[in-house]
Amino acid sequence: MNQERMLIIDFGSQVTQLIARRLREIGVYCEIHPFQSVTESFVRTTFRPKAIILSGGPGSAAEPGHPCPPPSIYELGIPLLGICYGQQVMMAQLGGRVEAGHHREFGRAVVAKSSDSGNDVFFDGLFADGTEMVWMSHGDRVTELAPGFGVVGCSPNAPLAIVADQKRNFYGLQFHPEVHHTPNGTEFLRNFASISGFSCNWTMKAFRNEAIGKIRKQVGSGKVICGLSGGVDSAVTALLLHQAVPGQVTCVFVDHGFLRKGEAKEVVSLFREHYNIPLLHIDAEEKFMDAISGQTDPEDKRKMIGKLFVDVFSECAAGMEGVEFLAQGTLYPDVIESVSATGGPSATIKSHHNVGGLPATLGLRLVEPVRELFKDEVRKLGVELGMPNEFVERHPFPGPGLAIRCPGAVTREKLELLREADAVFIHQIRKHGLYDKIWQAFAVLLPVQTVGVMGDNRTYEFVCVLRAVTSVDGMTADTFRFSHEFLSETSNMIVNEVRGINRVAYDITSKPPGTIEWE
Ligand code: XMP
Repeated sequence: MNQERMLIIDFGSQVTQLIARRLREIGVYCEIHPFQSVTESFVRTTFRPKAIILSGGPGSAAEPGHPCPPPSIYELGIPLLGICYGQQVMMAQLGGRVEAGHHREFGRAVVAKSSDSGNDVFFDGLFADGTEMVWMSHGDRVTELAPGFGVVGCSPNAPLAIVADQKRNFYGLQFHPEVHHTPNGTEFLRNFASISGFSCNWTMKAFRNEAIGKIRKQVGSGKVICGLSGGVDSAVTALLLHQAVPGQVTCVFVDHGFLRKGEAKEVVSLFREHYNIPLLHIDAEEKFMDAISGQTDPEDKRKMIGKLFVDVFSECAAGMEGVEFLAQGTLYPDVIESVSATGGPSATIKSHHNVGGLPATLGLRLVEPVRELFKDEVRKLGVELGMPNEFVERHPFPGPGLAIRCPGAVTREKLELLREADAVFIHQIRKHGLYDKIWQAFAVLLPVQTVGVMGDNRTYEFVCVLRAVTSVDGMTADTFRFSHEFLSETSNMIVNEVRGINRVAYDITSKPPGTIEWE
């Protein structure tokens, strides 16, 4: 067991996992545990952290009965960092005062360091010009400090933006250092880790070894089927399993009919070429098409597809002897957008196809070794596992596939149009050497027909939208800025080559407020 462990107590913030990934980035081993399950004995005898971070969350420390960590964490003699709600709950528990804010504060703010903050290591490499840009997102605020604390940083709207009890190494931040929009946020976490005495030498290799150990412990001598989509997440999952319990894994690639042009063939041959793991290729197009026909609501489509995946896996398992586990390449963003990862109250954005859980009747238990990672971390893990680049660098592709890129009712004809348009777009991107500069690119077929003119004839055909984004982890994204020449060349090619599409648009919405996929 890793001896240098950071405990993150989760109060339900949408970005708690970002704290974990920032810590992993700087070589700190950490685990997130929901506040409901963090008891005094868990902290003192089971987990024994070197330091604790209290996350943000939607609760209000100004309200009676708000979520709290066990008060004994303040007696352990280890450093503590409270972020947003975490800062407020720390103040409330230690004798300060929190009030419901009269106006909520969301967005960028400038924090200045107080002149009496001393030579605190917490500020190493920060505040070079006296201020730092940070991201605030809070309604309540601390109005009275707990005894022993001083203000070490303030912003115009948050006079207690950074508070500290330097004797006990307790720190509180009103802003979120873990989000991308706090440009030097990682440095706050690095400094906190350094104050806490972490040697910061934890690596992806260590993650791999720990994951393999956990799989062996969970699976024992049981047999596993592993859902393979051709994406990097499921491929990494398959490989981890293969390395952990060789001979006990069978991969199952389900062709649901919503794949891109030539994809089924490509994935199967790529996998068979590189790995000596048994692979079943299941053609389930009819089953999925029948079930989804007439469905127009995005959540209905997603849930139906998720259910059918489970049905297919269950049929596979029934046809093989002694299968006890189903492995999936579920990633953290799939989890947080579908349900709260830790049982807390974060909002459902969309139900990712692999996050519904398994029906108890199925008799299979889930193995999800990359559930805590983000896409870029899985890619690093893929490299660690020796995966070829063509796997590691593939653009992400959602489990429900083209079905969620055909808003409204899905038909075979629409899928065919979409497949062709998508293939032209990706071909263009590769031809112009842009594939590796873009995080994800695809076409969407709108359920809308418009009038056009080709030659001397009127056309009345579908509209295709192109989407290409840059991102680090899929949690936020920006539109990729193609040149006008690229866009008009691609639009011409699609309209000329794909009979049934007569208009092309480019989506320039970032995430948020959009999401990457349209459904
Ligand atoms: P959104 O649309 O939520 O997408 O901004 C973020 C990333 O997740 C992918 N995605 C999925 N991946 N199952 C998956 O395996 C799903 O149900 C699913 N829905 C979205 C999406 O393609 C993007 O990369």
